[in-house]
Amino acid sequence: MKILLAASEAVPFCKTGGLADVVGALVQDLKNKKQDVRLVLPKYRVVDTDAFGLKPLSFALTLPLGDSFETVTVWEGKWGRGIPVYLIDAPKYFDREGLYQDNHGAGYTDNDDRYVLFSRAVLELAKAIDFRPDIIHCHDWQTGLIPAYLSTIYKYDGFFIPTSSVFSVHNIACQGIFPKNTLFTAGFSWADFTSDRLEFFDQMNFLKAGIVFSHMVSTVSPSYADEVKSDREFGRGMEGLLRSRAHDFFGILNGLDIKYWNPATDPYIHKQFSLKNLAARARCKSHLQKACGLPPESKSPLLGMVSRLDPQKGIDIILHVIEKFIVGGCQAVFLGHGNHEYVSAFKALQKKYMHQISFSAGFNEPLAHQIYAGADIFLMPSKFEPCGLSQMIAMRYGAVPVVTPVGGLKDTVLPFTSSKPIGLGFVSREVNATSYVRALDEAVHVYTTDPVTWKRLMKRCLSCPFQWA
Ligand code: ADP
Ligand code: GLC
Repeated sequence: MKILLAASEAVPFCKTGGLADVVGALVQDLKNKKQDVRLVLPKYRVVDTDAFGLKPLSFALTLPLGDSFETVTVWEGKWGRGIPVYLIDAPKYFDREGLYQDNHGAGYTDNDDRYVLFSRAVLELAKAIDFRPDIIHCHDWQTGLIPAYLSTIYKYDGFFIPTSSVFSVHNIACQGIFPKNTLFTAGFSWADFTSDRLEFFDQMNFLKAGIVFSHMVSTVSPSYADEVKSDREFGRGMEGLLRSRAHDFFGILNGLDIKYWNPATDPYIHKQFSLKNLAARARCKSHLQKACGLPPESKSPLLGMVSRLDPQKGIDIILHVIEKFIVGGCQAVFLGHGNHEYVSAFKALQKKYMHQISFSAGFNEPLAHQIYAGADIFLMPSKFEPCGLSQMIAMRYGAVPVVTPVGGLKDTVLPFTSSKPIGLGFVSREVNATSYVRALDEAVHVYTTDPVTWKRLMKRCLSCPFQWA
């Protein structure tokens, strides 16, 4: 099958979160399954063209944007097992410090123009390289207009007759909502500005466009699929629409790139380890403690967190409960990027408990791996979680997760039961601080009082498959 995958980020080219992990891993898995898969991304400043041997193609694409036209070029390279990768080069729109926002956390005010242009470029590129996809697989609001274009402006374009579209929702909280004049920037007409098409509370909604117009819609875990269909708080206004598409809407759990996320070969960690050589993991813990300026006490439970600092991730729950555990003798290592108020709150905590709390602000791939490999307990009290890769990575590295019962966390972290040798982590009953404290208390209690049970629990975590199959 010919599959064209369009996304706003993918490892190893550019990443702000799990979307990049998923897109990068999925294209490789499709390639391994002998599909003719190709990937299209924007060419952001962060993309290292030399490292991937990317070269500009000889043609340019002239694309409509509002009343005028923009000309973009395309870079091409092969990645992994020969997967063709195309980068849309429009420096005015993508040669910037961040992917979606500047270094101060302010979202770019022309994100509508940027992803209108990218979406048009994906379709025109397919024609220019004569790659007639059976499926265009689009991810999140940034590519939501592609299915809409296929059903409107490109409806009578013979090139796309065999093409079906799949739209995957990674986070329904980010919808790409813009003023209604974006309709014209994107080339649509008033006829498309209706509540069953692109209109959403008198604005234009890119995510809705993807859900309305694609042939199939997926999201990234079965539980999240249920939540967003049935509950307004989870569905963020899309619940009715998703119910109306129930026959074409699927929750499919993400996989991990298990070659990349492998503690037996990971080059970023101090000492590689595996199920058969778990003792080496203790050295990762002491290395992490030293690297973060904490005393290398082997018996103190070391709590870890690697996260976007966003209300989604339950950061307020962490800030509310963490001192109780620090006073009780735990240590904690936090790595996070995002919201400035959360950064200040973590810095203040670090100052107060210098010998027990370490906080690193920013996006730091090596440190993230070291936290997964060195922490005993991984914290993830999300308010909602479409899938969550961090808890899966943590398990694969033997850091036992303590999570809230939402979305993909519910689908991946089977609750620990003291009476039976089952379970992979600790799941709070509800999504609030009181309930999360209970779950974390239980985790710390088992860790400190019952090393044999803990080791078995870690081993079960390390054995989890988390593959794309
Ligand atoms: P989300 O996509 O909602 O942020 P996921 O759990 O699906 O959450 O994926 C997060 C991904 O981003 C993981 O690969 C995690 O290791 C990585 N990550 C998150 N924050 C950071 C950070 N500050 N530095 C490095 N990696 C991070
Ligand atoms: C989003 C979600 C996260 C999911 C990721 C990849 O960023 O917040 O839960 O794992 O996408 O699908």
